[in-house]
Amino acid sequence: MNILSPSILSADFWRLGENIEAVKKAGVEWLHIDVMDGFFVPSISYGMPVIASIRKGTDMFFDVHLMIEQPERYIGDFAKSGADLINFHVEATEDVEAVIAQIRELGKKVGITIKPNTPASSVEPYLELVDMVLVMTVEPGFGGQKPIPECIGKVTEIRRMADDKGLDINIQVDGGINLDNVETAIAAGANVIVAGSAVFKDDIGENVCKFMEKM
Ligand code: DX5
Ligand code: ZN
Repeated sequence: MNILSPSILSADFWRLGENIEAVKKAGVEWLHIDVMDGFFVPSISYGMPVIASIRKGTDMFFDVHLMIEQPERYIGDFAKSGADLINFHVEATEDVEAVIAQIRELGKKVGITIKPNTPASSVEPYLELVDMVLVMTVEPGFGGQKPIPECIGKVTEIRRMADDKGLDINIQVDGGINLDNVETAIAAGANVIVAGSAVFKDDIGENVCKFMEKM
């Protein structure tokens, strides 16, 4: 089953609720929520208060992508604000297993993420412990970038590692995914597709329908 997880980083924040209702109405169940601290990545986005606000308005599945240093400092806050899945970067902490355990203890789904220059092998020790691996297809920090084609090879590598271990995990791609390259990402082994600028522009419902046709 392939899943579309639209990234609200590209939404119109003046009309955030309307934008979220538009993707939901088009049949989307997941929302990708990018949290940036201006330290792990150069930009700053939004955090717990925004997540808590939108949690009140929708029952969609919140896929929270933490681009923050030492995520262990904030796992409790993100769980409380309404995350369903908490996804952090393996590059951002010294103890990946401890952060995974923290998220599990709070009853949330767990994701781990790698940046473009981090090898696929760095997630192998944790595959049994997580629900999802996110392979970034751009340097994290900004929406609307062009994807780095070499990253797609890591999707295939991780899918193979998971298959070899008999694990049916989600593999997510994020960054520069659009209607022209989504099929390549799926063929490589991805089943959760993040798209920001390709969804939240012009006619949101139509963009979602076009993605769904290709998934
Ligand atoms: C980038 C974020 C992405 C971003 C994707 O650091 O992690 O989720 O919103 O945006 P697009 O799809 O426009 O590349
Ligand atoms: Zn993201």
